[in-house]
Amino acid sequence: MADGRFYITTPIYYVNDEPHIGHVFTTTLVDVAARAHRLVGDEVFFLTGTDEHASKVSDAALERGLSAQEWADVNAGRFREAFTSYRFSNDDFIRTTEPRHTEKVQEYMAALLRSGDLYEGEYEGWYDAGEEEYVPDGRARELDYKSPISGRELVRRKETNYFFRLSAYEDFLLELLDENPRLVQPDARRNEVIGRIREGLQDVPASRTGSSDWGIPFPGDPEHTVYVWIDALFNYLSVVDTDARRSLWPADVHLIGKDILWFHAVIWPAVIAALGKCPGYEWVTQPGLIYAHGFWINEGQKMSKSLGNFIDLAQLDGYAERFGLDALRWYLVTQGPLGANDSDFAEARFVEVYNADLANTLGNCINRVTNMTGRYLGGSAAEPGTHPDSGVLERAAGEAVARFTESLDRFALAGCAGAGMDLVREVDAVIERTRPFALAKDEARAPEVGAILYDCAEALRIASLLLWPVLPQRTEAFWERLGAAAPREFGAADTLRSQAAWGGLAPGTPIAKGPALFPRHQD
Ligand code: MSP
Repeated sequence: MADGRFYITTPIYYVNDEPHIGHVFTTTLVDVAARAHRLVGDEVFFLTGTDEHASKVSDAALERGLSAQEWADVNAGRFREAFTSYRFSNDDFIRTTEPRHTEKVQEYMAALLRSGDLYEGEYEGWYDAGEEEYVPDGRARELDYKSPISGRELVRRKETNYFFRLSAYEDFLLELLDENPRLVQPDARRNEVIGRIREGLQDVPASRTGSSDWGIPFPGDPEHTVYVWIDALFNYLSVVDTDARRSLWPADVHLIGKDILWFHAVIWPAVIAALGKCPGYEWVTQPGLIYAHGFWINEGQKMSKSLGNFIDLAQLDGYAERFGLDALRWYLVTQGPLGANDSDFAEARFVEVYNADLANTLGNCINRVTNMTGRYLGGSAAEPGTHPDSGVLERAAGEAVARFTESLDRFALAGCAGAGMDLVREVDAVIERTRPFALAKDEARAPEVGAILYDCAEALRIASLLLWPVLPQRTEAFWERLGAAAPREFGAADTLRSQAAWGGLAPGTPIAKGPALFPRHQD
C-alpha cells in the first residue's frame, strides 16, 4: 500500500450451494474498502472467486446426479451473477478449477516437496468432515468431539498423506505475530490465535486420497489430490503470479469471517514462509493484514442448514428492491459484525436504520438544501461569503476527510461511513442555527442566505464523496445533480484530496432538484 497499490481479497466461496448473506456481506465490505482506496488514489486490485474442489461440492453434485464440475459450474455461475447484480467492483474472479490456478498450485507443491516442508506420512486424528479439517486432540476434547460449526460428531480417521510441516513454524509464527501486532485483527482474534499456537502445532495434511478424484492431482503422485484448503489458500497467490501482476504481491488485506481464521492466520503465513524459502519464490512475503469479522445471525437465531434459516439471495434482493442496493450496503456496513462480535439481521432494525440515517438525515438534508437553493437562489450555487456560522462547515469537512482516511488506514470501514454521515449532520446543525429559511424573508440578507447555502451544498458534495464507497449509486446521482463527474469517472489526479478540497463547487453551478434519493419508509 505504501507504493500506492492496494491488493485486497475475499475468501473464495464454496460452490456446493448458492450464495447467502455471509458471502454477500464479506464481499460488500471488500467492495467498500476497494472503492475507498480507489477514492484516495490507490491502484486497487480486488479479488474474489470460488473454491471448488471441496468434497462437499462433489457430494452435493452426486446427490443431484451431476458431475462435480457440472454442479460447480452451476453455482460458480450463481456467485458470478449475484456479484454482478450487486455491482461489486472486483477486478478478477478466480475459480480454483481454472488451469491458471491448478497449474500454479502444482508448481508450489512441487517446490515445497523439494524443500522438505511437504513429506509423506501417516496420520490419525479427529476429523470434522463438514469442514474438511482435522481438529487437534486437545481441542477435540474441549469440543466434546463435536464440530463447532455443524454440531456433528467428529470422526476418528487414519490416512497416509502428504503433510505440511506446520510444527516447524511455531516459533516463526509467534515471532511474526509479536513483531506485527496488526497482522491479525481484531485484537480479540489475534489473542485467540496466539493462544492456540502456544498450545502447540501439529503437522497438517496437504493431500487427500480416496474414492473421489475431485481435486488438483498431487505432483508426482496422482493417487493423491491437493488438500482443498491448501489449494484454496493458494488462490491469493496464483492469480497475481504472472509477469503483469507479480508486483501486486503481497496482499494488503485478506478479509475473512472468524470461521476460517486458523487457516488464514496460522496455516497461510506458514505456507507463505515455507514457499518464500524456495528458489525463485523469494518475493513471496507475508500479507499486511488478516482481518476476521464476526457472523450475522437471523432475527436472533444462529443461521444453519438444519434450521433452513439462512438469509438467502431472494431475501437480500427483496431488501434491495424495496430500499435500494445502497440501503442494503449501508445496513451491512454500519450494523454488521465488523468487529469481534456477531450482529443480528432484523427487519425492524433495517427499517429503523434506513429511516434514521438515509431518509431523515442524508436524503432529507439534500432535499432541504436543493429546495432552498431552488426557492431562494434561482436553483444555482451562490457566491461563498460570510454568515454567522462561517468556517464551521469548511472545518467540519476537513475533519471528516481526515477521519475518513484515518479510519481507512485502520480498516475501520464503519468509521469511514460515519465520517461522511456526521458531516451531513453538521450541515443540518448549521441550517438549524443560521435559519436561512427565516433570513430569506429579508431581502437585505440575501447574500448571507446564498453564503449559508453555498457552504451547505459544498459540504454535502464532500460528504457524498466520503459516502460514495458505501452508497455508490445514490451519491453519484446526487453528484450528477451538481453537474460534477461521478467518482467512478475520476482520473488519476482526481483523488479524494483534490476533489474534497473546500471550494470545489463553482458559484453558479446549477443545483438541480430531483426525486427523493431515500424516500422515507412507512409501514
Ligand atoms: N472456501 C472456504 C474459504 C477458502 S478461502 C481461501 C469457505 N467458504 S464459504 O463459502 O464457507 O465462505 C465462508 C465465508 O463466508 C466466511 O469466512 C465469511 O466470510 C462468510 N460467511 C459465512 N457465513 C457467515 C455469516 N453468517 N455471517 C457473516 N459472514 C459469514 O469457508
